[in-house]
Amino acid sequence: MRIMIVGAGYVGLSLGVVLSTKHEIMLRDIDGRTVDKINAGISTIHEDGIENRLKSAVSDGRLRACNAMNESGSRDVVFICVGTPSNNDGSVNLSSVESAVDDVLETLPSLIDDYITIAIKSTVPPGTTRRALLDRISSTPYSKKVGVAFNPEFLREGTAIQDALNPDRIVIGTEDNRAFQTLRDMYAVIVHNKPEYVQTSMESAELCKYVANSFLATKISFANEWANLCERIPNADIDEVMKAVSLDSRISGDFFGAGVGYGGSCFPKDVEGAIRFAESISEDVSILRATEKVNASRPKRLLSILRNEVPDLKNKKIAVLGLAFKPGTDDTRTSPTLRVLELLRQTNARICIHDPLVNRMPTEGLCPSDIILTDNIETCMQNVDACILVTAWDIYKEMGLERLTESMNNKVFIDGRRVFVEEEPPKDVIYRTIGTHF
Ligand code: UDX
Repeated sequence: MRIMIVGAGYVGLSLGVVLSTKHEIMLRDIDGRTVDKINAGISTIHEDGIENRLKSAVSDGRLRACNAMNESGSRDVVFICVGTPSNNDGSVNLSSVESAVDDVLETLPSLIDDYITIAIKSTVPPGTTRRALLDRISSTPYSKKVGVAFNPEFLREGTAIQDALNPDRIVIGTEDNRAFQTLRDMYAVIVHNKPEYVQTSMESAELCKYVANSFLATKISFANEWANLCERIPNADIDEVMKAVSLDSRISGDFFGAGVGYGGSCFPKDVEGAIRFAESISEDVSILRATEKVNASRPKRLLSILRNEVPDLKNKKIAVLGLAFKPGTDDTRTSPTLRVLELLRQTNARICIHDPLVNRMPTEGLCPSDIILTDNIETCMQNVDACILVTAWDIYKEMGLERLTESMNNKVFIDGRRVFVEEEPPKDVIYRTIGTHF
């Protein structure tokens, strides 16, 4: 099929690269540098396995990027994959979706051959696809030749390619059976497994994304709340509890990992967006509010564990391990580390931070010149008075606690991701972690 993807960010680029194995892809982005890079076969995102796939797709002519919609020619499917960031009040900013729809409608005559499916993939509040796309198409002379759908994306950063190739389910929200069939046929030749194809209303499909992300975020906060209790109960350990609990076939053990909480570009934004959406229809979602509240308290909890061991942090040199919001990505958006750094700075501690992939301090609420960022773990740990681990990169586990702490001045190690819980700490190391009583 001939497919156009509007928006070449994480979702758009990963989707384009995966679909390009069997389809002809045109990626459209308003950022000229993104377009140039993609056309040179260079990925604009860090994603396992994307670079080689992109290079060969571009050199074989299966994938191309463009700046202007009218460079596209006719298409069987158009995906809208632009960003939906949060407004200051936490509600979803739909301006990029709306202008992408404007652009698609403007070029519609040249995009349509016989029939075209237009699907929104950007995460949007229920009702958006109908209002911003279907209703507008209905008022054009082309309405009979266009199928409209909402098709949520569930891929995770760092494993986006594998997730797209092996989806658990493909949700297609549409009232148009031909659009459903088109998208189903498009995916069927790409995926490596046999996912369930679920046809729903557009509104239910829009809700699916919010419900899935909110549920996973709630599981994390649920585990974190019990982790707090475990810290106060002699001999209790959160992993022992959750592992045993998860053996109940009604409860899956995934996303029960206690730690510094969730971050990234989806969970915080989607939980907040769901709360604001509920408010807009005068409904309260107290479970989601609690999920958010527990998550916001995690960095403070970690700092209080540190302060138990080092009460006065003024001028103390503290190493922070991990800046990305999770291992396997260089993305720092809403990383829990940012809040940890903010709290540490309030204590007048001196901070150095290590991350194997992130090479630039994000500017989000921080004064970057204050903080030393390095990709050399030995440099980071040299003569520090304490260390906090926030992102569970493999390199830390591989080094082991003994090697990691050997050049510390004062060997206080606070493990915010329970990476070393199963290791016997060296005698001279004070090891503390979330969710275990000490
Ligand atoms: C998430 C969803 O998983 C994905 O389906 C959706 O499309 C986008 O949002 P992503 O943000 O890439 O994907 O990361 P994910 O692996 O889900 O982790 C999100 C956050 O939760 C990370 O900060 C991670 O460290 C944290 N997390 C995850 C925990 O704290 N504990 C866990 O047990 C699992």
